[in-house]
Amino acid sequence: MNAAIRAVARSADAAGVEPVGVRSGFAGLIDNDLEPLDARAVSGILHTGGTVLGTGRSPLFRTTEGRQSAIKHLDLAEVDGLVVIGGDGSLRGADALSREGRIKVVGVPGTIDNDLSGTDFTLGFDTAVNTALESIDRLRDTAASHGRLFFIEVMGRASGWISLYCGLAGGATHVLVPEYPTDIPRVREHVQTAFAMGKTFCLVVVAEGDDAGSAYEVAERVAERLDDIDYRVATLGHVQRGGRPSMRDRVLGSQLGDAAVRALLDGADRVMVGEHCGRVERTPLSRAWTEQDPIPEELMGLMDRLAR
Ligand code: F6P
Repeated sequence: MNAAIRAVARSADAAGVEPVGVRSGFAGLIDNDLEPLDARAVSGILHTGGTVLGTGRSPLFRTTEGRQSAIKHLDLAEVDGLVVIGGDGSLRGADALSREGRIKVVGVPGTIDNDLSGTDFTLGFDTAVNTALESIDRLRDTAASHGRLFFIEVMGRASGWISLYCGLAGGATHVLVPEYPTDIPRVREHVQTAFAMGKTFCLVVVAEGDDAGSAYEVAERVAERLDDIDYRVATLGHVQRGGRPSMRDRVLGSQLGDAAVRALLDGADRVMVGEHCGRVERTPLSRAWTEQDPIPEELMGLMDRLAR
């Protein structure tokens, strides 16, 4: 997100537009927590995780009264265009602001879940998967040494992209994603076959929002008929949300932050900028919550074919 903030501030500056930062997300708009954000103010943030502006969920912003207060502060500060970086909730909020006031809004897809349509990848996804993989590689070492079965829970309350990519890149035997119903006997059979075929250890990656429950619940159910297999569970949790952003995220954030400013300069409103097949594109903001790119069956198939 910091790469995107930096790009927005610097691209605006380069275009002769005065950038202003909003602290703490929509809550900061309601509290009038704005600050000048010139090119120098965003120095030294490109390589840092999180967001230097802060963020937060704002129940008040869900009310008309809260949004009217935000609009009033934007008007007082003579802000003409707003770049909102976030997931579908943030983009919905941005849409409402634009409809209820005179401000033009452009969204930048920022969520580790990669669950927004209109971009191949969302900001943070690559870093989150790489961070999870570091842990998965370590777990694989201990799994291999002890000949164990590991169930590893990764983030994704409603989306299995992190799980799928961790499974593919981490050499898992099986991945569980919320988008496909989980068949516990099938997972068990898969693990048994893998061991029977000579695998000495197995990794099963579980998205936190899987329909069969948490990694602990899945593990208990899978292992209840696997008497001779020693298993352990690891939940990676919020470590996936922090840390140094990957090269891909820094470049994507830079491209999308810049594209958001250009969209506003072109007079665009209620669009999201994203990257599709290497090209930066604009899509209607509402696509972010009305459409969701499905987890590709081909990648689930690839997972199956390679897990042996
Ligand atoms: O939406 C991104 C996400 O990281 C989900 O994958 C996860 O379930 C959720 O946020 C965690 O949110 P919180 O930090 O509020 O627990």
